[in-house]
Amino acid sequence: MKASGWAIPAAVVAGVAGVAARDLRQRKHALLRNFPVLGHARYLLEAIGPELRQYVVAGNDEERPFSRDQRRWIYASSKLENNYFGFGTDNDVEHTEGYTIIKHRTFGDTAPPSHTHAGEETPLPSAKVLGAARGRPAAFRPESLVNISAMSFGSLSHTAIEALNRGAALAGCLHNTGEGGLSPYHRNGGELVLQIGTGYFGCRDSRGRFDLQRLKDVVAGAPVRAIEVKLSQGAKPGLGGLLPGAKVTAEIAEIRGIEQGKDCVSPSRHAEFSDVDSLLDWIELIAAETGLPVGIKAAVGVMDFWEDLVAQMGSTGRGVDFVTVDGGEGGTGAAPMIFSDSVSLPFRFGFPRVYAAFARAGLADDVTFVGSGKLGLPDNAVVALALGCDMVNVGREAMLSIGCIQAQKCHTDTCPTGVATQNRWLAHGLDPALKSVRYANYVKTLRRDLLKVSETCGVVHPGLIDAGDIEILFAQRETLSLRELVGYEPGWGGVSEGDRAAITAFMAGAPSGGSRPESPTATG
Ligand SMILES: Cc1cc2nc3c(=O)[nH]c(=O)nc-3n(C[C@H](O)[C@H](O)[C@H](O)COP(=O)(O)O)c2cc1C
Ligand code: SF4
Repeated sequence: MKASGWAIPAAVVAGVAGVAARDLRQRKHALLRNFPVLGHARYLLEAIGPELRQYVVAGNDEERPFSRDQRRWIYASSKLENNYFGFGTDNDVEHTEGYTIIKHRTFGDTAPPSHTHAGEETPLPSAKVLGAARGRPAAFRPESLVNISAMSFGSLSHTAIEALNRGAALAGCLHNTGEGGLSPYHRNGGELVLQIGTGYFGCRDSRGRFDLQRLKDVVAGAPVRAIEVKLSQGAKPGLGGLLPGAKVTAEIAEIRGIEQGKDCVSPSRHAEFSDVDSLLDWIELIAAETGLPVGIKAAVGVMDFWEDLVAQMGSTGRGVDFVTVDGGEGGTGAAPMIFSDSVSLPFRFGFPRVYAAFARAGLADDVTFVGSGKLGLPDNAVVALALGCDMVNVGREAMLSIGCIQAQKCHTDTCPTGVATQNRWLAHGLDPALKSVRYANYVKTLRRDLLKVSETCGVVHPGLIDAGDIEILFAQRETLSLRELVGYEPGWGGVSEGDRAAITAFMAGAPSGGSRPESPTATG
């Protein structure tokens, strides 16, 4: 080859090297930092994907767990890009079983503002004060009705936890630690819900037994606002967990109070209680010793547990401050397929049964209800709030907002975006400072949409949307109101008169739309 014949290959190599160097230096895209040059293929496919899929692969609503449309909405929201959709819905409204319709009101005291970003900075707190009904000393009104679901350091990387915690601070959210204990990465300004699972990680003694003093020390040393006792999780209820020894680094061993390099087992059941009676004793003990509101998280299977819980709360004066109901469609770092696919009820079936048990006993106003299971999407969140949730927790949607591309390799430690891995190189690709803003943007946009939808329904806060405001379509055969479908009695799913008045007063300054000035003849 002549000297000039080398010019083109040399230019290509230099170009590729230049792109690689730029990819490694930039911080915006974890995927490009971890996979320089190659990672661009994903962005190209993302850009021309709609056209390609139109002819070759899948439609906008076919992918699972999150469809392309749902992910696009989260990605665009987290970057504060245009998250509107053009040309009208591409959902098959006419033929989809169980399609949700929210019913607006033509006239009302409130109207949503038309401007795209209006409402993003508006606080949207819980309509209930957490822990107030049981007089907990540290009762408080959560600032945000959207919060981060339990996901441990261990299943998520240190950079992901830091990004979420910083993002929680920016968005005024609560950040649930997950059952893996409270790590240094949880101490970046965001307020916490400390989760206690069956392994009692971070609050156990050297033999693995629950240690109350260690719990009190942990709580005293961090901005913990509430404690969640994990009974089960929708994606793998009744099954413990295992963090393989290879992932038990010295740091994780220190945080969890376990041995480095050895498999870390979360047993299937708790050792501190074995029935509702002993569970309530334990909850009251923790609440008394820490002063914090204490709740439980569980998926819904056989209803005996809930009926017994409600009965004993009614008759003994002991009780939980909040209940987090996790749907069977919820996520996990790793679980057997049979558990993820088939054990425990989906949120829309499970939650109404639990709520109804409390409502029948007249206890629904005394408990803050939290929902999770793909509720970080506006339409699902509205349904959850109408069913009686006071707050929703977001897990995988939060992961998507900080860069997850739904590669579904969380269980392999090879997460390409550095979200769900302990591999230092991959985790390093995720820049916590940048991704924290992405998470905060996503939550603010979700709250904005919830506020706008509530105003279109004629109420000032999404917690006041009623199960009667929602209709469920069964293809073109029939429709049922959500209230009829789940068998709610009048008033169920709402809040007490006192809470309604308080949240209405709180929302007085929220941005609202309206109309042009009246014409002279309008009042004529
Ligand atoms: C990577 C990962 C780790 C999780 N770790 C926990 C955990 O430690 N404790 C827990 O109660 N739930 C855990 N979950 C479940 C979530 O908290 C949440 O309940 C579930 O994913 C449903 O919410 P989503 O649909 O918004 O993801 C985890 C989920 C994921 C995806
Ligand atoms: S492995 Fe895939 S699904 Fe799991 S966090 Fe990483 S990008 Fe997301």
